[in-house]
Amino acid sequence: MEQTFHREIANQSLYIYGQQKLGGEVEIEGAKNSILVLMAAALLTADDVILHNVPDLTDIHSMSNLMCSLGASVKREGKTLIINASGLNNTSPSHEVVSKLRAGFFCLGSLLSRFGYAEMPLPGGCSIGTRPVDEHIHGIKSLGVNVIVNHGIVIASVRSQLTGNRICFSFPSVGATETLMMASCCCVGETILENCAMDPEIVDLANLLNQMGAKVTGAGTPTIRICGVTRLHGVEYTVIPDRIEAGTFLLAGAITRSTITVCSVIPDHLNSLLMKLKEIGYDITTTNNSITLTTNPDKSLTPVDVRTASYPGFPTDLQAPFLSLLTTIPGLSVVNETIYENRLKHTAELIKMGADIRAYNNLAVIQGYEYLSGAKVSGTDLRATAALILAGLFAVDETIVSGVEYLDRGYCQFAEKLASIGANIRRE
Ligand code: UD1
Repeated sequence: MEQTFHREIANQSLYIYGQQKLGGEVEIEGAKNSILVLMAAALLTADDVILHNVPDLTDIHSMSNLMCSLGASVKREGKTLIINASGLNNTSPSHEVVSKLRAGFFCLGSLLSRFGYAEMPLPGGCSIGTRPVDEHIHGIKSLGVNVIVNHGIVIASVRSQLTGNRICFSFPSVGATETLMMASCCCVGETILENCAMDPEIVDLANLLNQMGAKVTGAGTPTIRICGVTRLHGVEYTVIPDRIEAGTFLLAGAITRSTITVCSVIPDHLNSLLMKLKEIGYDITTTNNSITLTTNPDKSLTPVDVRTASYPGFPTDLQAPFLSLLTTIPGLSVVNETIYENRLKHTAELIKMGADIRAYNNLAVIQGYEYLSGAKVSGTDLRATAALILAGLFAVDETIVSGVEYLDRGYCQFAEKLASIGANIRRE
């Protein structure tokens, strides 16, 4: 069934009056990065895959459109997605749909498993870097897939049958680990993936696949073993909470020197951020499903250095919002972005707000002051836009942030949630 998922977003901006204390609780949604991959995994079976805890995000609309273009049906009932890929009849998604989100490329593994053939447009560069897919391609070749790239399209065909192999990634790519997990589930024999990404979203994918009948062990460690099975079946599954959304709200609390609680989270998934926040001087308390950040007026806040790294290291997706916080902590701090080559663009916008930042390639040296002033700034990607909003929450006077269309890719009702805990923010 052909369906189109879309939402009107006509050049909207956010208007923020800073210097308001925040307080209260924020309910965290399901993890966007997990859902996109679980959706790709739904293509592995002709049965229904029912996903709960799915927020309304434009990246999820884009993935739904991609899957419908392949012949799957995707229905939404509240926060539940019902996916059925029994009618899958197309192995060549258009460049237009795949270019909307990199995760679309991750359908390659599922399509190869179902049909032994796929033509997948290369996702290409994006505003945070070139983002090649060589690790995905190298991996599927090892499973017995012929790959040629023609006019920007990866044409992949299984030689006789997908066959398990030992694959060592040259670095722990999240997407390549996921693509190879999906491609290997119905392989002949065993696949051993080494130097895998260890992110919670990888564990979530393994849990889903196992509930569909796959035999995946070791997810969350560097080595994942997959014993091929003949077929996968349907499943009803609840996605993990979004650690990046949770981290962004904790940082909103931190930058406004407030006390806030994020609920429905898995605190362990945020350890690297929580350690840095404690190092700065915030008090952090956790329960089994919530985190409270408290600004203690008796403690002075001190600058820290941060280096992004693969999980369980500091997540690159929280680098931009964390950097905004550092611009407001008196003293010198250094941010080293090691995952992407072009992810410090937001620093130029923060400088417009009075931040003192020197950026050298992937290094930002920040002299923090307890002062930012409102300005008109533009977000260039999802997390950069969130970072500018956080800076606006701290700044004196009005900040106008454009690039709201990026925000909608990964945060559900971001402005509304901030307003509900005391921010003076409106969207026009
Ligand atoms: C996923 C997340 C993204 C997050 C990133 C790193 C999803 C949908 N997106 O992206 O939000 O920022 O993990 O935590 O889950 N690379 C290569 N060759 C490859 C694959 C990747 O050179 O074959 C490079 C990329 O260009 C990037 C780095 O490796 O610089 C990390 O990429 P990867 O871990 O694969 O991230 P994604 O899965 O794309």
